[in-house]
Amino acid sequence: MPAKVDMDKIVSLCKRRGFIFPSSEIYGGLASCWDYGPMGVELKRNVKEAWWKTMVQDRDDVVGLDTSIMMHPGVWAASGHIDNFTDPLVECKSCHLRWRADAVEGKKCPQCSGELTEPRMFNLMFKTFMGPVEGEGSIVYLRPETAQGIFVNFENVVTTSRKKLPLGIAQIGKSFRNEITPGNFIFRTREFEHMEVEYFVKPGTDEKWLDYWVKERFDWYVKLGIKKENLRLRQHGKDELAHYARDCYDIEYLFPMGWSELEGIANRGDFDLTQHAKCSGKELSYRDAEGGEKYVPYVIEPSAGVDRSILAFLVDAYEEEDVEGEKRTVLHLHHSLAPIKVAVLPLSRNEKLTPLAKEVFRQLCPKFMTDYDDSQSIGRRYRRQDEIGTPFCVTIDFESLEDKQVTIRERDSLAQIRVPIEGLEKVIEAKLKGEAFDASTLWATRQK
Ligand code: GAP
Repeated sequence: MPAKVDMDKIVSLCKRRGFIFPSSEIYGGLASCWDYGPMGVELKRNVKEAWWKTMVQDRDDVVGLDTSIMMHPGVWAASGHIDNFTDPLVECKSCHLRWRADAVEGKKCPQCSGELTEPRMFNLMFKTFMGPVEGEGSIVYLRPETAQGIFVNFENVVTTSRKKLPLGIAQIGKSFRNEITPGNFIFRTREFEHMEVEYFVKPGTDEKWLDYWVKERFDWYVKLGIKKENLRLRQHGKDELAHYARDCYDIEYLFPMGWSELEGIANRGDFDLTQHAKCSGKELSYRDAEGGEKYVPYVIEPSAGVDRSILAFLVDAYEEEDVEGEKRTVLHLHHSLAPIKVAVLPLSRNEKLTPLAKEVFRQLCPKFMTDYDDSQSIGRRYRRQDEIGTPFCVTIDFESLEDKQVTIRERDSLAQIRVPIEGLEKVIEAKLKGEAFDASTLWATRQK
């Protein structure tokens, strides 16, 4: 079953409306690197905020952390990333293009049909040097996951937070992977952002908590507007589990290129804490306050990508519809994710309308991300707001000067209501929270 929208349309909308641009574009771009524009940066902030609210703020068993990207190289030896974080790579003997062996069918280069080398394992971690001397002794890696920053701080967090297990530690931050075949826009890139929780539990309760987190995470996407039929769960086969995992489920999304991983929820057992204890010489166990029992906790890890989630939210929200014979492109983004919540649009640039429109803008912008736009026709401005997913447009017309009321237009239904400027922010706040957009009653208020 193909997804309803081509990736090209998403890429084009992202460029056209200031969501995402190719990195270093004026120099011809840099493969698989992308920059978030004014709309993209708001969407990204909103996705991260929605995640943090659900995973940290709304719970009393998860706390946050922000660890450094470069860590002691011993961390990556202990975690198994130096030995195991590899993909099988083959190279074409003619055109020298490199491919992930498992992504190529047969023994011929997909580009030029040349002969391919035998697979060799390629480590995906980016290496660099710390300090002024380049050499073996100064190698550091850019982290390929934020998780290790959490594991090495387990003791610090448990001691200072005074929390009992089960306890989650959450982190959002950049990760880097020298992917052999990045692509599909922001789906697979070499620099991306992770949103990860390491949830520490008593061994024996791990399977229950894995089920719990799989459900929580699946529901999170649905609550934020992703259609259930575009999501599915897939348990990893034994042969595809990461080196640290005892069990793992992927939440898959129906992306334009087909069903692909959106988020992974793994049972990492006690692999990481045991390894770090062994390699650092520091004991990393937990003593139960009640029974006094001491154990190395098991870890359940819901691990999502910010950028990949953004792609899923964009694809799912995208719609082209026919409105009175005209094509309308609209992003039905969840209100909490929409980059701009409300746009203030004076009917024209008429000098009588501008002061009132600016006043309305100043009234709203301390409360919501608000756009002010008085260029071009009102129809074109509505279309622009639809394409960036703005839930509400407030129009100021000549009647507004008399009756001190404005029209609010709702993105999805295209319904319009007329409301007083006084208290406008409260009306919009309620609508953003999901209050019904009941055109008839408000029009009735206006008629009185
Ligand atoms: N700490 C566990 C871990 O990193 P993963 O399955 O490799 O697990 C988790 O990654 C999530 O991170 C993926 O489901 C995806 O959303 C995102 N992700 C991983 N590699 C990515 C890449 N190269 N580009 C963009 N997102 C990526």
